[in-house]
Amino acid sequence: MKKITRREALKLGTLAGGSLLLPTTLLYRNQASIAGTAGSPQPTRFAVKLPIPPVLNPVRSDATTDYYEMTMKKARISILPGLTTEIWGYNGIAPGPTIKQRLGRKSVVRFINNSVNTPTSVHLHGMASLPQYDGYAEDLTLPGYYKDYFFPNTRAATLWYHDHAIHNTARNVYMGLAGTYLVQDEFELGLPLPKGQYDVPLLIQDKQFTNTGKLVFDTQGEKSQYGDVILVNGAPWPRMEVGTSKYRFRILNGSISRSYKLALSNGDDFIMIGTDAGLMSAPVNVKNFRLGMAERYELIIDFSKYPVGSQVVLQNLGLPNNDDYDGTDQIMRFDVVRSEPDNSSIPATLRTIQPIPESSAVRTREFRYERSNGLWVINGKVWDDKRVDANPQLGDVEIWRLYNNSGGWFHPIHIHLIDCIMLDRNGKPPFPYERGLKDVFYVGENESVRVIGRYGPNTGKYMSHCHNTVHEDHDMMNQFEVGQGGPSPLSDPAKILPAPSL
Ligand code: C2O
Ligand code: CU
Repeated sequence: MKKITRREALKLGTLAGGSLLLPTTLLYRNQASIAGTAGSPQPTRFAVKLPIPPVLNPVRSDATTDYYEMTMKKARISILPGLTTEIWGYNGIAPGPTIKQRLGRKSVVRFINNSVNTPTSVHLHGMASLPQYDGYAEDLTLPGYYKDYFFPNTRAATLWYHDHAIHNTARNVYMGLAGTYLVQDEFELGLPLPKGQYDVPLLIQDKQFTNTGKLVFDTQGEKSQYGDVILVNGAPWPRMEVGTSKYRFRILNGSISRSYKLALSNGDDFIMIGTDAGLMSAPVNVKNFRLGMAERYELIIDFSKYPVGSQVVLQNLGLPNNDDYDGTDQIMRFDVVRSEPDNSSIPATLRTIQPIPESSAVRTREFRYERSNGLWVINGKVWDDKRVDANPQLGDVEIWRLYNNSGGWFHPIHIHLIDCIMLDRNGKPPFPYERGLKDVFYVGENESVRVIGRYGPNTGKYMSHCHNTVHEDHDMMNQFEVGQGGPSPLSDPAKILPAPSL
């Protein structure tokens, strides 16, 4: 039985038809959308308002440091109308609360493992944490225990914290253990970019539910976890009311296995301003962009161009090897509901990013990501905490060539600790929107990507892995160890200098 494809459905107009249903109704699709299951109950699109996760207040602060506390626990929340769903959440919500920090202040976060009944390890993705605070997969906190994590906040960027427990990362993140962590600096806050309520995090995830609302975690034999309901900040296909202003969106793909190709329904451009590790050097207009798991892009949508009453849908044009379930073609909708003055603007220069010249690299390493004998491997090997696959010395600049011989899979590769710059993909320049500092690199089908970075500022063992967390868990992960000493002085590769003049 062949499922109707998205394009066929669009032709038939069936997708538009769904929106005629009343809010708070669920449409039960009785088709084999997801191997052997009936498919999730389908809520009406754009019926709920986009939630914004609460900002977490520190429990106390001193001259240098803010101290936070979060408890991982099971909770029953409403995601689909009329049903409740058990999640595992930081402070019992999914996504967890947002931490907003300032560059240079330090954070100590006490993560308490309360009632999730499974060992946890917390990784703050994008932070140059010391190894003991980096969420090492084997550094488990057992139920009933807590761990205090120290974060130096040395990069102004959109980061996210999520579980990283060995072999269970996909399940734990899927159940809800993920949240946003923002670091801002004075320089960025001084730019005329949209701020405050015009600076909005959008965490996109796909989930699958039973008809009683239970989350279905089914990796199809340790391959991938796909869902047929799109959540943004935890709400299914939400709607956001906007004014006639520019908005800055910090988009994070927090999905387990699904990548997206995002576009606006009216065909207008996004104005890209940031990548994983913060602002790019200059804005760039794009019609659509590829968003792999764990990647972050910051972009501006200018709603001042649209009359009050306009609706703009954030669409997913889809990518190969992302099971094409009906419904994942749309993410959320923006409704322009009020006219208002817009005092924000987008500077032509955002920051100066110090380039890392290719000639400064002291060596090149190669990592091949593939499926072999039912396992996900890197250079033929699975994760082994006793093995180290690369040993850059502190301050060394290295080029890593990440490649994928397969036409059947894509792998977003994450390197902990450092921010890199992509040199090329298949020998061609990176997409314009990828030309910033990044820590996740989309290695698509039959692609080879070269990235350059300086290893530091910390020494010790750090993981690198595919951020399809099902692949990571089984066992597409390895580690590098940054050694003491080296030819270059200690410095941060991601050193960002303010633009000289704007
Ligand atoms: Cu976002 Cu090692 O992970
Ligand atoms: Cu992968």
